[in-house]
Amino acid sequence: MSILIANWKMNPGTEAEAKAMAKYSDQEGVVVCGPLVFLALLKKTLKRAAIGAQDVFWVNGRGPYTGAVSASQLKDLGVEYVIIGHSDQRRYFKETDGEVAKKAAAVIEAGLVPVLCLGETREEREAGQTQEVVDRQLKAVLSQLPEVKKKARLIVCYEPVWAISGNAAGAGLAELAVSQAPEVAVEMIRYMKRVSESFNVDLNFIYGGSAGAENIDALLKQEEIEGFLVGAASLSKRDFEYMVAACRKR
Ligand code: PGA
Repeated sequence: MSILIANWKMNPGTEAEAKAMAKYSDQEGVVVCGPLVFLALLKKTLKRAAIGAQDVFWVNGRGPYTGAVSASQLKDLGVEYVIIGHSDQRRYFKETDGEVAKKAAAVIEAGLVPVLCLGETREEREAGQTQEVVDRQLKAVLSQLPEVKKKARLIVCYEPVWAISGNAAGAGLAELAVSQAPEVAVEMIRYMKRVSESFNVDLNFIYGGSAGAENIDALLKQEEIEGFLVGAASLSKRDFEYMVAACRKR
């Protein structure tokens, strides 16, 4: 089955809703990335799905870093995956490629799997810089991988910023996101596979950006795409269950 990573972002509003969402998300092959406040609840509720976090600080262990959470603390809570470099973090928290690389290294050192999000903005796409952006964001992380005993695993999510549901709808790009993004994704994944060959890391390539019940069947036809990062559709029981079933049939 392809891996389905639910990115709840800053949702839902209450613990009761989080519990209901955890129940329908609790399937083999699913990773639920909830807000920090719900991770303990996810640990109690999930039996089949794995737990993911949506961000982390780049120092492991503990220390005087107000507001920060370390990968080793997340691991102790039962977290196995951590989203790194999401465009929300890059945009609202001004996260840089260098910081994303440090976070990925900390996550790997703690024995967790980073889900590295990368992809171009609408402006970068229109300026023909898609490959250049992907190349820069990927190499920033691959060039800083820590030395670890076991070969590190990294999930790379090509997520064009313009195709993320909220952005696409706002800019009138919803149709384009559904019709064109998969093709670009295949091209970028092929490119990233070539670029990463010389690095000592196990990679999986997934896609994010308006992946939902309407387009999952078409997306699944693209062999290069090994899974999905799902935002808005992960908040809907009906849509997410449809996606899980579709991924299972693959
Ligand atoms: P979306 O979000 O599925 O709502 O487009 C994906 C993401 O931002 O990770």
